[in-house]
Amino acid sequence: MDIKKILAELTLEEKAGLCSGDDFWHLKGVERLGVPSVMICDGPNGLRKQNQAQDNLGINDSIRAVCYPSACATACSFDPALMYRMGEALGKECQAEEIAVLLGPGANIKRSPLCGRNFEYFSEDPYLSSQMASAFIQGVQSQGVGTSLKHFLANNQEHRRLTVDAQIDERTLREIYLASFETAVQSGKPWTVMCSYNRLNGEYVSQDRRVLTDILREEWGFDGMVVSDWSAVNDRVKGLLAGLDLEMPTSYGVNDQQIVEAVRSGSLKEEVLDAAVERILTLINRHQEQRRPQTVFSMEEHHALAREIERESIVLLKNEDGLLPLSKQGNIAFLGRFAETPRFQGGGSAHVNACKVVGALEAAERDVNIRYAPAYSLTNENEDGALLAEAVKVAKEADCAVIFAGLPDSFESEGFDRTHMDLPENQNRLIQEVCRVQPNTVVVLHNGAPVCMPWIAQVKAVLEAYLGGQAVGEAVVDILFGAANPCGHLAESFPIKLSDNPSYLNFPGEKDRVEYREGIFVGYRYYDKKEIEVLFPFGHGLSYTEFEISNLRLSAKKIREDEPLTVTARVKNIGARAGKAVVQLYVRDVHSTVIRPDKELKGFRKVFLEAGEETEVTFPLNRRAFSYYNTEICDWHVESGEFEILLGQSSREPAVRDSIEVEGIVSLPKHYDRNSTLGDLLCDEHARPIIQKLMKEVGMDKQQADFKLGEGAAQMKMASVYGMPLHKLVSSCDRKVTWEEIGAVLKDLGGSL
Ligand code: BGC
Repeated sequence: MDIKKILAELTLEEKAGLCSGDDFWHLKGVERLGVPSVMICDGPNGLRKQNQAQDNLGINDSIRAVCYPSACATACSFDPALMYRMGEALGKECQAEEIAVLLGPGANIKRSPLCGRNFEYFSEDPYLSSQMASAFIQGVQSQGVGTSLKHFLANNQEHRRLTVDAQIDERTLREIYLASFETAVQSGKPWTVMCSYNRLNGEYVSQDRRVLTDILREEWGFDGMVVSDWSAVNDRVKGLLAGLDLEMPTSYGVNDQQIVEAVRSGSLKEEVLDAAVERILTLINRHQEQRRPQTVFSMEEHHALAREIERESIVLLKNEDGLLPLSKQGNIAFLGRFAETPRFQGGGSAHVNACKVVGALEAAERDVNIRYAPAYSLTNENEDGALLAEAVKVAKEADCAVIFAGLPDSFESEGFDRTHMDLPENQNRLIQEVCRVQPNTVVVLHNGAPVCMPWIAQVKAVLEAYLGGQAVGEAVVDILFGAANPCGHLAESFPIKLSDNPSYLNFPGEKDRVEYREGIFVGYRYYDKKEIEVLFPFGHGLSYTEFEISNLRLSAKKIREDEPLTVTARVKNIGARAGKAVVQLYVRDVHSTVIRPDKELKGFRKVFLEAGEETEVTFPLNRRAFSYYNTEICDWHVESGEFEILLGQSSREPAVRDSIEVEGIVSLPKHYDRNSTLGDLLCDEHARPIIQKLMKEVGMDKQQADFKLGEGAAQMKMASVYGMPLHKLVSSCDRKVTWEEIGAVLKDLGGSL
């Protein structure tokens, strides 16, 4: 396709028309110029290709497709290579179905456990989220199919998502919410980015030039197409000016007409429209050049991959007395409807018409004798006495009870948020009653986000399966009976109770305004800093074997911020079975003058080790690992000083640590005026002699010399001198300093009165 030539031949109306969809899933084509209409579809954990009735909420039917585990699960694999393979498989499926772009992955941060769509997102941590999203994108796109990184930006709740205004300060945006997309854009290089519905600091993201152009394109180098979330356009012309290329789905010509009129009236330069059209044509061309409609794939093989991915993602949260893995010979009870019909995916646009679903009961019964009781109703939370009694009886007669619990569809979905973190009442009751008669109780959870576990002390083992895709039952059985060794680690913290969560007081906001008052303290950044006990910390995950991390080495004891650092350590499988360890690297700024989290994830490695085997893991770190975002210089900044490198298997248990001295090379601008404190001035090498001289002249140096640390009064005096603004010297000393003298000092320091 000769894009420039086509662009030159298109009429204004055709160009405006190309900027919105033809219907729900197709871009428009231009037949007379040989531009085809291409199809895109949801995403992200399976294809939701709708051939007939179309919708964005997963209500109408779509083709039969493989349903892979949702991002809430896959993030726990801590395995970008696995994400890449999942992407590759989805890419093949898209090729076979002639899909140009798969709408995903979602890289929004899990700000609150209540967000109804958390199941579609990876993590509360931007580093992990961005790494996983990036691998997914690369996997899909390796097959010549595009992705749409979504929902950019700050779409962290479903409540009033079309209108809510997220108020987020710049540092928080940069360190948390933008960071979750940044690597995904820069290394993943998605063909498209989908803007979100909401407003951010007063402006709809769909028409926010700073977000869609200044940051996305100019700072991060994004060269693809920006598409609106479905019906996210507010003012179409403003959107174009901001960098929103394609509106989806169709606006039935209404917004196209606005574009035409704006160009005619001169309020929209035709070059802006041309740039958008060129990006849309580039996307269509990419698809044309790389389409392979003859692609075939085996649903069985992809089902097996879905099983493998889930197996690698399930998190063993608790395993007292080594209850798991279970012996196949035992007399085992499976309790709960989810054993038979698991909840394996979330509701809304990500909802896939799964080609087959295997529950744990069906999978286990292939070679284990199981007694099953449905145990609870999914439609009525008020416990059903007969179902409960039967389940308790079955549990009592067994050697071990495995309860399949979790959230029904009505509890969490796209479109609304949860209002609490509880499991349905009947399920909590079931677990408690079963624990009374059966000491060996295991709970398997099917949920898209953390739940409260009032029964945690009574159960011996908990497996977090999340929304594990169509093969979840087989994967759970693989883990329960030890065919596979659990190796998932939590990509989010599990608070003990909802009110512990940092966003609790400001979620989902008032009317159309939500203030992110917790700032950068999201997830473990908050729990760790506040030393709040959690149910399970970020990064936690047990195994049937044990690993030892040792021999931490840093390539240098001191570096300049622009020098690389390599961190190396040994990991040994000291247990009796083969397994995979997830080694996590956190960085802590030991003495910071800015408020920073206790530690932040800056690297992770997943390694397979036979029993007794050991290996070395290596992490390259660059300046970003040590920086925070400084709003004064509008850039990342490294403060000179000591940083700790912590390696462990969860955020709460560093196994080894070492320190590095990092020298920051960018000094921050200093602004002095009449209100600058003597303390600040005395801390500045350049200002110190000047101020000391001035203090000497007015006799304040003597007062200072009298101060003896440790004495309350002296401390107080010292503090009052340090906290004194410069201008006070004019009126609070025996020998008065004149305004002229203050002015001269400030001039010397590059400031002014
Ligand atoms: C969702 C998107 C989805 C789109 C198309 C919207 O409601 O927010 O994630 O891709 O619909 O179904």
